[in-house]
Amino acid sequence: MNVYDSWRIAAMLDARGMCATKNVADADIIILNTCSVREKATNKVFSELGRIRDVKKTDALFGIVGCVARESGATAFHRMPDLNFVLGPQSYHRLPQILENPDAKLLNIDLGGLEKFDEMPQIVNAPTVSYIPIQEGCNHCCTYCIVPYTRGPELSRSYDDVIRDTAMAAQTGAVEICFLGQNVNGYKYTDENGKVFRLSDLIRATAKMPEIQRIRFTSSYPTEMTDDLIEMFRTEPKLLPFLNMPIQSGSPDVLKRMNRPYSLDSYVEIINKLRNARPDIQISSDFIVGFPGETDADFAQTLEIAKRIRYINSYSFKYSPRPHTAAALMSDQVPENIKRERLAILDSQLNEIQRDFNETCIGKTLTCLCEGADKTGRHLIYRTPYMQQCIVAYPKDGAPLTMANIKITAANRASLRGEYVKD
Ligand code: 5AD
Ligand code: SF4
Repeated sequence: MNVYDSWRIAAMLDARGMCATKNVADADIIILNTCSVREKATNKVFSELGRIRDVKKTDALFGIVGCVARESGATAFHRMPDLNFVLGPQSYHRLPQILENPDAKLLNIDLGGLEKFDEMPQIVNAPTVSYIPIQEGCNHCCTYCIVPYTRGPELSRSYDDVIRDTAMAAQTGAVEICFLGQNVNGYKYTDENGKVFRLSDLIRATAKMPEIQRIRFTSSYPTEMTDDLIEMFRTEPKLLPFLNMPIQSGSPDVLKRMNRPYSLDSYVEIINKLRNARPDIQISSDFIVGFPGETDADFAQTLEIAKRIRYINSYSFKYSPRPHTAAALMSDQVPENIKRERLAILDSQLNEIQRDFNETCIGKTLTCLCEGADKTGRHLIYRTPYMQQCIVAYPKDGAPLTMANIKITAANRASLRGEYVKD
C-alpha cells in the first residue's frame, strides 16, 4: 500500500513539472512515506530525518507522510523542528499546499476517507505489475494493531473507479494486477441502485481484459474468505494459485486475546476449500511471536500449525507494543530475549518448509512474469505463479520475454534458477 501511495505522490509531483532525483542533496522536496506497524520502523523514520536534515539544501522542504505522520501528529514537529509537513495516509493529496506556502508548517492527519483517490493524478505508464487499492482501513481491531487507528475504518472504493483504474493500467502496460487493501477480501461496494459488488466481481471483470494475464490480491482476513471468492480459484485461471492469509498465531488462547475470532478448525477448513477449488494453491502467512501472555505451549502450537498448513512463504515478527492499541496495556508482556529466541525457531522452521517447496519445483515448467534485470544486468528476475523469485540468464539471442515458460533447474530457500523453454 505504501509503495502504491508513493507512486501516486510521485505522479502528483511529476504533473507539477518536478522530477525525481536519487541524490538527497539535490532535492527541492524530500518526502518520507512511513510505516508505523512496528516500533522499529517508526524509530527509523526519525533517525533518517536527522540524516536528511544534515545533507539537504537549506531551503529544501522536507516532511513525512503516512502512518507515522498520523501516529505522531504535532509531536513530530517537536521531535524534528525543521520539518515542513506532516500528512497522514489519507491526506497526502494536500501536499501541494506546502509548495504554494513553503513558509508554513502543514499538519493534516485527518481520516479523509477516499478523497485522495479522486484528487490525485493517475499513474501513467503503468508498471508491469500494477497495484490497485480497492479498500482502505480496517474494522477488525486486532488488539496489537495500530492500522485501525492510522488508516481508520474500512472503506471500499466504488466498483466503477476500481475498474477504470484497472483498465487504464491494462492499457498502459500492466500485465499483472494486484488488488490491495488492509482487509482486501472484505471489499464490499453498494452502488446507488443497491447492487452489491465484491472482490469476486472485480476479479471476474479484470480477467476479461485481454492485456491482463495474472491477478492476485493481498491481504486477506480468514473469516472473510467467502465461497464466491474461493470459487474464483476454481473458475478463473488468471487468478494466481497463491494467497496470503495471515493466521498470526496457532494458539486459540492467543488468537482470542488478539481479538481474532476464528478457530484453528475453521481456518483449516477454509484452506481445505481453497485446495479443493485449486489443488496447487499455495498459502503464505504473517506470524507474531511473543504476544503478551504467550507461553511455550502457545508458541509450540504456532510451530505446529505452520507445519500442518505448510506455508511456502511467510513474514514473522516479534510482537511490538504500539500506541493506541489494547495489547500494549496488557500486563504479561513477553521479555525481549524470549521473543528473539522464538522468532529464530519459527523462522528456521518456515525457511525449511519454503526450501522444501522450492525443491519440489525442480524439473517443472512454470509460466512466469519478468520483473526486470538483476543488478549485474546478466540475469532476469521472474516471478512464478506462486510468487517465488526465479533467476534466468539474460537471453543472448533476442529480447527478454515478459511472460515466459521457464523450466526450473535449481532451487534454494530464497529463489529458483531456470531456463527458457523453447517453443
Ligand atoms: N507487532 C508485531 N507485528 C505486527 N503486525 C501488526 N501489528 C504488529 C505489532 N504490533 C504484523 C501482523 C500483520 C503484519 C502486516 O504486521 O503480522 O499481519
Ligand atoms: Fe491490523 Fe490486519 Fe488486524 Fe486489521 S486485520 S487490525 S490491519 S492485523
